[in-house]
Amino acid sequence: MTPAQAELASIAQALSDPRRSLESLVGETVRLRHLVEQHSRLPMDRQDGLRDGESFLPSGWAISPVQAGLCAREPYRSAAFIQGLAQAVRQRLHAARPVRVLYAGCGPFALLALPVMAVLGARQVQFAILDVHAETLAYARDLIGQLGLDGHVSAGICADAASYHIPSDALPDVIISETMNTALGKEPQVAILRNLHAQAPAAALLPAEVTVHLGLERRQPGEPCADWGRLFTLDADALRAWQDDTGDSLPAARIRLPDVLDGAPRLLTRIRVHGDIVLGDYDCSLNLPLALPGKPLLAGGSVLDFRYRLGGSPGLAFQLAGAPG
Ligand SMILES: C[S@@+](CC[C@H](N)C(=O)[O-])C[C@H]1O[C@@H](n2cnc3c(N)ncnc32)[C@H](O)[C@@H]1O
Repeated sequence: MTPAQAELASIAQALSDPRRSLESLVGETVRLRHLVEQHSRLPMDRQDGLRDGESFLPSGWAISPVQAGLCAREPYRSAAFIQGLAQAVRQRLHAARPVRVLYAGCGPFALLALPVMAVLGARQVQFAILDVHAETLAYARDLIGQLGLDGHVSAGICADAASYHIPSDALPDVIISETMNTALGKEPQVAILRNLHAQAPAAALLPAEVTVHLGLERRQPGEPCADWGRLFTLDADALRAWQDDTGDSLPAARIRLPDVLDGAPRLLTRIRVHGDIVLGDYDCSLNLPLALPGKPLLAGGSVLDFRYRLGGSPGLAFQLAGAPG
């Protein structure tokens, strides 16, 4: 075993331990970040070119290799997805064949998969890693090879996951995709999960559920955000319900603002990755409260009708449904 493989094995043991809290895993996620940055061919210390190689797809913004690499610097996010993936795979282990995981938007480090590859054998789990950017995928394959984990990869696919057709003999048991932004805006998470879930409806989805609520920022660290209600849910039930929907938007809720507004409304994003592994308000950049599009000045008592817009600039949009009073 090389020193890098030994370091990954030790990190992976902790990150895949279901008894560990996300908070207690920060140290391991930092070690994982250093390990991948040290062994990747992708230079992460450059000051310019952050957005080189990004693209704008019919389903949203696909971030550049460096931007995707920066996701490794989000400790709670990484810990939650890795712990969740390890659990989902272990729950599906069986003797007849390896558990098949489709990792859509693997980024330059295949970060969420590496620890799971390190704790389970190639006969237990096989990954199809997919990214829309050939350069990003090449970095991921190279890193996996350097860590001696090539045998865990059944396929490296360069494709748009929002339109990718899964071969019928490679239907996944688990689909993992972290191609999202705050409030499910800008990036193609919704379109990707719609496309993949429709083809493999029995597969476990990670994240299992993303909800967007309307409320207020917390007043002080440690205080909860005011929550006026749920606007939108992305989970397996919602994906099934939208299956025959061919429009350019998806339904979301109507919400009446409180009569007295203590602050500007914010979109709050909560993520249940798998089981009871949850990323809540402020846990990572994906959970930061977000101003409404256009930062409108709204009167207390206003009624807002939301829809989720699909297409190249996805996200929640609203119309005023009723005047206050
Ligand atoms: C937020 S990064 C996540 C990287 C890595 N999975 C992680 O969690 O650290 C999203 C990755 O998804 C890729 N991506 C975005 N849209 C995609 C699409 N429609 N099809 C395939 N890959 C996509 C980007 O190129 C980028 O590498």
